[in-house]
Amino acid sequence: MSAMKTRVPEWFRQALIYQVYPQSFLDSNGDGVGDLAGVARKLDYIQSLSCDTIWLNPCFASPCRDAGYDVSDYLTVAPRYGTNRDLVHLFREAHRRGMRVLLDLVPGHTSVEHPWFRAAARSRTNRYSNWYVWTDSVWQKEPGLMFVRGFAERNGNFLTNFFWSQPALNFGFARPDPKKPWQLPTGHPDVRALKGEFRRIMRFWLDRGADGFRVDMAFSLVKEDPERQATIALWREFREFLDREYPEAVLVSEWCNPSQSIPAGFHADFLIHFGSGAYTSLFRAEAGRNIYPGSSGRSYFDPAGEGDIGRFLPVYLEQLKAAAGRGYISLPTGNHDLPRLSLGRETDDLELAFAFLLTLPGVPAIYYGDEIGLKHLKNLPSKEGGYNRTGARTPMQWGRGAKAGFSAASPGKFYLPVDPSPGRPCVRAQENDPRSLLNRVRRLAALRRGNPALGNDGLFLPVCAKNRGYPFVYERRSGGERALVLLNPARRKAEASFSLSPSPREPRLLLGRGCALRTDSARFRVSMEGRSYAIFQM
Ligand code: GLC
Repeated sequence: MSAMKTRVPEWFRQALIYQVYPQSFLDSNGDGVGDLAGVARKLDYIQSLSCDTIWLNPCFASPCRDAGYDVSDYLTVAPRYGTNRDLVHLFREAHRRGMRVLLDLVPGHTSVEHPWFRAAARSRTNRYSNWYVWTDSVWQKEPGLMFVRGFAERNGNFLTNFFWSQPALNFGFARPDPKKPWQLPTGHPDVRALKGEFRRIMRFWLDRGADGFRVDMAFSLVKEDPERQATIALWREFREFLDREYPEAVLVSEWCNPSQSIPAGFHADFLIHFGSGAYTSLFRAEAGRNIYPGSSGRSYFDPAGEGDIGRFLPVYLEQLKAAAGRGYISLPTGNHDLPRLSLGRETDDLELAFAFLLTLPGVPAIYYGDEIGLKHLKNLPSKEGGYNRTGARTPMQWGRGAKAGFSAASPGKFYLPVDPSPGRPCVRAQENDPRSLLNRVRRLAALRRGNPALGNDGLFLPVCAKNRGYPFVYERRSGGERALVLLNPARRKAEASFSLSPSPREPRLLLGRGCALRTDSARFRVSMEGRSYAIFQM
């Protein structure tokens, strides 16, 4: 394997992501749907959170059976969001402020309405026949894989990657079954042609000013690849291409396994709700706080104080080790697939969650609205394939009135309703209140920016992490700088004693409340109020 640059571009070493769901952020033309011009208007707001990198959910032409994750044209902005020129304008406006924009690249599947798929669905063999995975008879059943039968004139079933309307693009099979000639090897010329097409798509947007991509379901490309070795090899090729032609570009994966994705060439990977349950155990362990089956136990960040940091820490430390020096882990506050962080939490609890997420190494990511405690709206009818994810996708609440400053359209025309409760959070009300969540988050994010020890690259050293226990204490270090973070999300008081090596000078409180730290020769003793935290410089 050729030598791959392992370093991340300099700008990404300070990156703090803000995720924008474009249809719900700000509507600039009064049609009830957010758009790119709306995002451009709020860059200063995003910057006021110390966020410098925007991840924009898919904004390309799509029939929106999965809210745009079913692309029908990768090179054209969906009319509801504006034009390609609006996107280029957004890149320029962002760059003028020293900010960056990551687009959402969906390489695993297209919409059934993509011209490639329409061509592939014809019975007559053509250039696109192999671009998707089709069996060679409609009567064939394939256990284990999800096929759609009887869709088109072509005699065969197509493999889906997510919903039925998202046919899997064909990056080949890791170990094709010789008895099934429709299973192509990863080196097949048609697979190579498809990869070439994705390089073309990346070039198209990078040439116009995009700074990189969040890659949807990045783990899913090569089929029947349990160890993901073939998928890793494929992404290394893409990374080599970027290193050669666009060394400043960044790839962030939805993979949820940094020990695979970082060696595959991603600059960062979201550690989220798939697999181990480590992320889920922090904020969304309870069935009521999760929309995915299989959640259990109590969240660590819950005032009940019955969580267990031991469900998170070993997985996190192992992944951190695997990524060290090569790429970052991103633990987001939430995203468009997860219940809102605010579900079942008050401002003090949310501040604690932010104090944690904004003092971890790697690249933090704030999902739009989490900084004001936007609510998860339960029981909304499904919108564009959202199902119970829909409640996390409602309009950003900028102002007070019935329209929440989101759009000039009548609220009945809004993409989704705003929170109907009279006391709903909004930016306007929080802006001038120093005790608001918005301003607490701003202080935490600014603290991270100003303290290298708390930044993306520093070390993370657990100090006190008693299983089933509170508080959780860790140290961050970078160069000669050290910081100590103490968190007690539980409602009750928590105490701990620990030593630090080397023993620091007098720790200086940077931010926090309700925490008394005493030193007695080399030992530290801490007593923490319920729902308190502190960040010390040492
Ligand atoms: C990712 C996206 C999700 C989408 C799915 C299929 O998980 O985050 O919203 O439905 O991929 O593209």
